[in-house]
Amino acid sequence: MSTPALPAVPRVLRGWYVLCTSDELGRGDKPIQRSLYGAPIVLWRGADGRPAALVDRCPHRDVPLSYGCVKGDHVQCAYHGWEFDHRGHVQRLPALVGEADKPARRAQAYTLREQQGFVWAWGDPDSQAQGEPFTFPFADKPGYLVVRQVMRARASLHAVAENALDVPHTAFLHGGLFRNDSATRNRITCKVERTPQRVQAEFIGEPRPTGLVARILSPSGGVVTHFDRFHMPCVVEVEYALGEENHIVNSAALTPADDYETVLYAVVSVRTRLPAALVRPVVQPLALKIFNQDAELLALQTRAIGQFGSARYVSTEVDLLGPHILKLLTWASKGTELDEARQVYRAEVQMEV
Ligand code: FES
Ligand SMILES: [Fe+2]
Repeated sequence: MSTPALPAVPRVLRGWYVLCTSDELGRGDKPIQRSLYGAPIVLWRGADGRPAALVDRCPHRDVPLSYGCVKGDHVQCAYHGWEFDHRGHVQRLPALVGEADKPARRAQAYTLREQQGFVWAWGDPDSQAQGEPFTFPFADKPGYLVVRQVMRARASLHAVAENALDVPHTAFLHGGLFRNDSATRNRITCKVERTPQRVQAEFIGEPRPTGLVARILSPSGGVVTHFDRFHMPCVVEVEYALGEENHIVNSAALTPADDYETVLYAVVSVRTRLPAALVRPVVQPLALKIFNQDAELLALQTRAIGQFGSARYVSTEVDLLGPHILKLLTWASKGTELDEARQVYRAEVQMEV
């Protein structure tokens, strides 16, 4: 079988995405390169401490500005030394007698926000940003153990988001670690609610899962409160509460470096009756193991979609969120004003877990 190109995915540029962590953007004299839906972006931190990002293409001769260096508050192109400020204006044009800054010479600039240790960009350069980036609600909360992790998956943002929020696969792909496949399953009710900004599933009456991670966190069992959410255009959030004491919020901002290459900026916040020093060394490697199982599977899924030239994607009622996520992304990418896109959708689904 030949390998046709991978099919197009909905690209939502008008939204906030994490481009890097604050730590990755040090104060060195080398800018860094990231990308969003395949578009290269140069980032640097000026001498004034503020992060800056431009389309990574010198207007003069198309050389990547990320190949250059940081000069004070500016980024300097390696080829002829043009210097750009954070708005993309040429502040120095060596050898030229006369005005350096002209509209045609300007590089396109991204609007940035730095918060909670992440550098977020409005995905559409040179356009008016709307709203503010997502705030991780438990990233700075006292009493929570917070683990951050940057990971990559060779799959589309949609596939990664669906995977992160998909319950039925956990008993198989991660069998024993979190849930188990067994003959005695519990029937639970799932409430799905979709608005133009997010889609959420609430799971009602789910007993504590029987896998290892769940047993460590709550040996005594009980009924869990469980929500899975996708916030447009890129944040997944899994929230579990078990009794008064145990609360886990596993969030990630997904950045589509390319159509089929997604970077996950994960923030896991855990509060248990067990001390953090005990929880971290056990839960962190297990969580990484679970992620690696997902990443390996997602890469295979992407490869198959490429080999067949299309995504078949037959869904059932228990594919609770994936189809809604795809709808939200597709509508937003087209900027449609469909009635369906503006309405609140609610449904109840029975599922056996
Ligand atoms: S290519 Fe950048 S200054 Fe000439
Ligand atoms: Fe998974």
